[in-house]
Amino acid sequence: MQHYVKGFSKLSKEEKINWITTTYFTNSEAAKDILLNYLNSDDSLQKLHDEFIENTLTNFYLPYGVAPNFTINGKSYTIPMAIEESSVVAAASKAAKFWGERGGFKTTIINTEKIGQVHFLFQGTAEKLSTFFNQIKPKFFSDTADITKNMEKRGGGILNIVLKDKTHEIGNYFQLHATFNTKDSMGANFINTCLEQFAKTLEQQALEYADFTEDERAVQIVMSILSNYVPNCLVRAEVSCPIAKLSESEVIDAHEFAQKFATAVRIAEIEPYRAVTHNKGIMNGIDAVVLATGNDFRAVEAGVHAFASRSGRYSSLSHVSIQDDIFTFWLEVPLALGTVGGLTSLHPLVKFSMELLGKPSAEELMQIVAAAGLAQNFAALRSLTTTGIQQGHMKMHIMNILNQHQATKEEKQKVLDYFKETTISHSLVVDYLEKIRK
Ligand code: MEV
Repeated sequence: MQHYVKGFSKLSKEEKINWITTTYFTNSEAAKDILLNYLNSDDSLQKLHDEFIENTLTNFYLPYGVAPNFTINGKSYTIPMAIEESSVVAAASKAAKFWGERGGFKTTIINTEKIGQVHFLFQGTAEKLSTFFNQIKPKFFSDTADITKNMEKRGGGILNIVLKDKTHEIGNYFQLHATFNTKDSMGANFINTCLEQFAKTLEQQALEYADFTEDERAVQIVMSILSNYVPNCLVRAEVSCPIAKLSESEVIDAHEFAQKFATAVRIAEIEPYRAVTHNKGIMNGIDAVVLATGNDFRAVEAGVHAFASRSGRYSSLSHVSIQDDIFTFWLEVPLALGTVGGLTSLHPLVKFSMELLGKPSAEELMQIVAAAGLAQNFAALRSLTTTGIQQGHMKMHIMNILNQHQATKEEKQKVLDYFKETTISHSLVVDYLEKIRK
């Protein structure tokens, strides 16, 4: 059946909820209750959330947890994480403690350059366009002076604008490729506003340029938009220790562990099927902190995976070296993050996260996020190359299974006690639950 609604966005929230629940649900009252249960009782807080997007019906919760005991460049942090996957926070905390006892995470900012492009068509030669571009280049800066004034006061602004000839790929296609420093803001609005002004300047200047023919004057702007591919907005996180210190128990030999761990990383370096899952584990840590600090995780995801493919083959973001009995494990990731602007001054939990992290600069946040990603990757690889992933994963997931089956507090305790020592799987947990219910 087709359900078409006209002017939905103009309806009140109550009308929207009524239309949705009566149109799509057999038990519309129960459906309505679900939506209403997730609304905040504080009206002003709810209004804030309502206004983040269009057509808000309710709120969608994710657990907000913390991973304590991170030591990054000698400073200790408790890192906020918003994520639904059972084992992620536990794994991050465990890795943080492990590396905290071995010198902690060392992080460095490699660069903080952001990118934006004006894509346009020009009906003339690249040489003629290049002469024109070089003549009018200062105009791009002067025409955006009002937009860049405040950013420049904070030490940022437009770094450079270059003309790129892409006509070998698409006929008449050129770009203005601009680089920016947006300091503590993620900078999307700043960059896009600058780019749209560049496009106007380009159009106007071309119209007035005496050496152009009529066709050449009619520059066609296709679009002006920042790029989420930011390979020069890069951070590195590293941990290292003597191999002998790697093993926590006598069961696993430290040298064997180091070698197996390094092989696991090399597999992710050369095998894309493994690299995607390996990097997904890194993103478990990265996304959770990016979300908890109100940053754009889609932008980060898109940019990180493009970076992982930069050689032409999708590969691991992290690497290992074993030299003179020293085990070093590191990653480099592009992260365009902000600690001012966007949601950072609006969402109460984001403000909470920022205070918890000691009000970091964007550069400091990049380093915290990278450390969380490396911690997560270390925890996953350690499990994978020793006990297998299911042991830790199912230990955390067991509560979800019990809740799915409406287990009582007593039933939960009995199941948890029983599975302390035995293999956990969904069906084994359900079978055991049924057994104790009989
Ligand atoms: C699960 O969310 C993440 C892992 O699959 C990562 C990995 O395999 O490295 C455990």
